[in-house]
Formats: sequence, C-alpha cells, structure tokens
Amino acid sequence: MSLENIKKYEFGKPLNTGAVVVDIPKTEGIPTGFTYDEGSKELTTSLNKKDVVYGLGETIRGVNKRGWLYISNNADEPHHEETKHGLYASQNFLMLDDGNRCFGIFVDNPGIVQFDIAYTDADKFTIRFEDNDTYFYVIDGKTPYEIVSSFRELIGRSYIPPLWAFGFGQSRWGYKTADDVREVARRYKELGIPLDMIYMDIDYMQDFKDFTINPERFPDFEAFVKEMKDEGIRLVPIIDAGVKIEEGYDVYEEGVKEGYFCKKEDGTNLVAAVWPGKVHFPDFLNSAARKWFGDKYKLLTDAGIEGFWNDMNEPAIFYTEDHLKEVFAEIKDYENKELDIWGFFAFKNLIGSIDNNPEDYRRFYHDFDGVKVRHDKVHNLYGFYMTRSAGEAFERNNPDKRILMFSRSSYTGMHRYGGVWTGDNTSWWSHLLLNIKQMPSLSMTGFLYSGADVGGFGGNTTEDLVMRWTEFGIFTPLFRNHCALGGREQELYQFGKPEDFKNIVELRYSLVPYIYSEFMKAVLNNGMYMAPLSFEYRDDERCREIEDQLLVGDSIMVAPVYEQNKTGRYVYLPEKMKLIRFRSYNDFDEEILEAGDHYVKAELNEVLVFVRPGKALPLTKPAKCVDDLSWDDLSYITFDADPESYDMYKDDGISRL
Ligand code: GLC
Repeated sequence: MSLENIKKYEFGKPLNTGAVVVDIPKTEGIPTGFTYDEGSKELTTSLNKKDVVYGLGETIRGVNKRGWLYISNNADEPHHEETKHGLYASQNFLMLDDGNRCFGIFVDNPGIVQFDIAYTDADKFTIRFEDNDTYFYVIDGKTPYEIVSSFRELIGRSYIPPLWAFGFGQSRWGYKTADDVREVARRYKELGIPLDMIYMDIDYMQDFKDFTINPERFPDFEAFVKEMKDEGIRLVPIIDAGVKIEEGYDVYEEGVKEGYFCKKEDGTNLVAAVWPGKVHFPDFLNSAARKWFGDKYKLLTDAGIEGFWNDMNEPAIFYTEDHLKEVFAEIKDYENKELDIWGFFAFKNLIGSIDNNPEDYRRFYHDFDGVKVRHDKVHNLYGFYMTRSAGEAFERNNPDKRILMFSRSSYTGMHRYGGVWTGDNTSWWSHLLLNIKQMPSLSMTGFLYSGADVGGFGGNTTEDLVMRWTEFGIFTPLFRNHCALGGREQELYQFGKPEDFKNIVELRYSLVPYIYSEFMKAVLNNGMYMAPLSFEYRDDERCREIEDQLLVGDSIMVAPVYEQNKTGRYVYLPEKMKLIRFRSYNDFDEEILEAGDHYVKAELNEVLVFVRPGKALPLTKPAKCVDDLSWDDLSYITFDADPESYDMYKDDGISRL
C-alpha cells in the first residue's frame, strides 16, 4: 500500500520520537479543515453532529471519545476514574467518523498534549500543545479499517509475543518465596486449571534492585526456573525503571561511572524515590545507556527467563530529594502559623502532591543522542524507550526467539517492542466495562498484545466479578489475573466454584488456535484484533453507539456480562448470528438469532459468543499449557460456512518473524 493518503505537517522544530517508520514528505501550511492559533498553540476543527471520535488507545471513558478533555501526560495513575484525563499511555491517534467521511490524525508530540473533544465547545475538536514542536499527520481513507491500516503502516508492525504468552497467567504482588510460587503452581495443577505463566512481582529481587534475585527466598534461581518450566509454567519477572542507589550494586555503579543516568541542570544525577528507596533513572533516550540497560536482561534470560513486564516507567516518582527538601522547608513556615481554611488546603496539598509532581519532571534532562532535552518536553517517551531498550537487546542477544514483553507506560512506537497491560485498575464492575472499552482503542493504535488485570488490581474482589472478568479476559491476547498486596486473594482456586473457572480457562485454551490466528492476521495485515461493531456494520446507525459488544477477529462477536447479579443481558445483533452459550469448550447450546434486539440469558458460568454468518470458529481440546495444545485435531462451530473456509494462521510460535 502506498501512503499517499497520509499528509505530514510540521509545527516548530519537532524531535524524531521514533514513533513513525515511513518517511512522508512534508506538506506546507495548515491541514485542510483545521485552524491554527499560534498564540494559544491550538489546532481546531469542527465536528459534524454525527461524528464519532475513536482512538487514544489506553485511556479512560468510552470507545467514542466525544465529550471529554483527554490529556496525554503519562502518569502513575491508580485511579482510573471518569474525572481523570488520562492514564499511563500517550497513543495520540484519533479518527473522526460521521458514517460517510472519516479521517485519522496522529499527533507525534512527546510532551503534554490536550485533546479537547467537544468538551469546551460541543461542536469543536481542539488540540492544545504545551509545546508546539510537533509532527501532525492527517490520514485519509474510505473506511475506519483503511485508516487504521494506513496509520499502522506508518508506525510499523506490532510486537509479536511467543505463542505460549497466549496462555493464562497468574500474578500477585506478594509472592515472596519460591515456595509461594510453587504453591500457586500446585493449586492450579491440583484443580486441573491450565496455566502458562506465573508472574514475579518486585519481591523476587534483593531490596527491589533490578536484575538481582534474593538468594534466601529464591535459592538456585536457575534450577527453579527449570523446575517450573518442566511443569509447563514460565516465570515472568517485573523490571522497574529506577535503579537503586547503593554502593557495591553493579548496575548503580556502572551507570554512575558511564554517565548513563538522567541529570539535573547542574550535571548531578537526579535522586528520586520509588520502591527501592532512592534511585537514579537510566537515560533510555540515550542509545548507549539504552544498550547498557537492555543487555542487563541477559542475566535473567541466561537463567532461562523468557518474558518480562516493565513497570513504574512513566517514570513514577514517589518524591525527589530536591522537592522533599523544599516541602520540609515550607512545613517549617507553617509551624507557627494559624491555619485558616485556605491555608489548611494549601498545607494538605503541599504534602499530598509530593508524588509524581509536575515540577519534578522539569528538574532533569536527557542526552537524546547529543541533544540535551528537559524531561518534561519528552516525558511521554520514557516508558517506550525503556521497553525499546529491552526489545533491542532481545533482538541482539536472543536473535532466534521471541521474548514476552509488556509495559505499563507507552507511546506510539513502543507497540513494535512490546504490549501493554492497563495498569492498576480496581476490583470494580465498572472497570470490567472499562477494560471492554479500552480493547478496541488499543487495537487501533497497534497495541495488540494487551489486557487488564483480570479480577481487578486494587480493592477486594468478589468471586462473581473474577468470573465475569475471566469470561471477558479469555478473549484478550494478554490474559492475566493480578492483584495488589493486601487485597483479597483472587487466584482462581481461592473461590468456591473452581470447576466453573476451570471450564472458562479451558475454553480460552480451546480458542488459542483462533485467537492466535486472528491476532497474527491483525499484526501482519495492520488490522484490528478487537473492533467496535461500527467498523464492520457501516450502514447500521445503532452500531455507532454500541460499546459493550466487540468483534473479536473475523468470525465472532462477544457480549460480556459486566454487571453484578445479572443472569443475562441485552444484545443487539446487526445481522443474523448463531449464539453459542458456552459452559465449557464441549458443553454449549446453539441458537440462531435474527438481527435486532434480544435479551440473552447467561448464568454466571456461561460465556456468550456469536458466530457471524458465513464464518467458522475452530476449537481444539484444552491442555494444561499452550505448548501441549494440538493444532491438528480441531472441531469447528460454523454458521452457514465450510470449516475449510477458516483461514488458520500457524507457525512454530517461537521463532522471530
Ligand atoms: C505497580 C504496578 C503493579 C505492581 C506494583 C508492585 O503498582 O502497576 O502491577 O504489582 O507496582 O510492583
């Protein structure tokens, strides 16, 4: 495909962020249909009454972004609430679609960008730059699929994980010893619930130091990795962005010696605090530092590790040494003062805003390969470049095999090196719905390998929430149950109906040939893995407002139940479909439903899948792990289709493509 349908505009003196991989000639002037106000740094266009605005990848609120102010400013944001303006990611692709004309835009600006989408003015869409050095792309196309596909060609092919990463993963912040991990494996095995991954949160490290293993709690780590792998389980450790400041710790000492950490104006290394206590931040924007840090993952891959998750890479800052000093000085001033009510709020704010303080992001600099840039100007690139550091190292050091990688923070371009999980959600039913709405937006922006903490990270979950969330999670490429320290334990064996959980997870394993095929086709053809109905049913006005049903690949639509105490839900069918009500991979009812509205029953242990006309859905027999699945002995659920018509994608699942 040629990219003549993409126009590139330039404002100010933009940096090359690495988001784009195709060189598009520059078009002079202001994009057609937009007005630009140099003084307020605002680009504005009108919205048609019918415009749906898609995009922005991982953020809050709906699939249609109309009616809110979204801000790209990557943050360690555990409150995924409607009042917020963004989360951990900046994926600045949007698409306006009124049903007849549609076009996409991509704002390649690594600083803070506001997207005022009919928020200030119900008929206008305004992009406000904190710093207007930006590339701005306008993408034309006849359909949303065409626009997404062109955008994705512009930004390069999405990351491909190993096939085993399509299995189920159990995680929890709080597995402290090898025996804790063994216990998880044992309990799953005992109940016969398939499991491919156990995630290792920060407790495996020595004092939260990256690339260390606590030798008392995880003795003979290499043997332990092998022991688990022999059981069919891969261990997936976390890596955090901050490097602990500690004499004698090689990563710290090398980083200081080589000048690989982010520096303040006066040339000293920034001192911030995260889990390990005081840390320095590697300057991932510098290619030498990036290579150095990336090569450290080898310590773990040499011990048999095949996957990682990168965290705290917005970067999250609990406090900086400098800011803390300022706060303490100000507190002294308060000591002998009468606190009036405004003084009380100012005081409270002084203490309450020490973490992730905007001022701190203006205190340090990057050596962006020879160009000194203040961090806030390129803030949204940090997580991307941390993951790029790992991704480039994997290509160098593990050239023959795929390594699992996903990150909390992201920017467009990172999708070539890893996936994302959607961070610290809460065990709320509304966050299950949020997860459903985030998925198609993530597909548009190329973050195909993605998913949420199933069951919810924060708060105390309930059995029914974990079950309903698992019923949706089986369709997300990254399928992981994860929970915070202190929350109610939510491994699937903690509840009263393990048999139901087993059936649901087994259904995922039966679907792996389909899920992997559809995922790979989306990667290789720049397509959508999970799509809103409106992408497909262009002439159906109703579909433009449906955000709680999704197309998963080419053959099926899903309609998850996401409310408590419900034994069914309303479903809208844009065309006649075959309803499959799964209780397990081999126990289900089938029913043909006409186009239109239906109330469909779904007991707590039942998963609703709708097969589209002329389509086939392959199923294999579940196994204890993905490596043990058979791809030859498949059965098919079809709706007026020949099983042979299904376009299966198959490869060895591990070699790099
Ligand atoms: C962050 C991560 C979370 C992890 C925790 C401890 O909050 O988002 O997934 O469990 O840190 O490492």
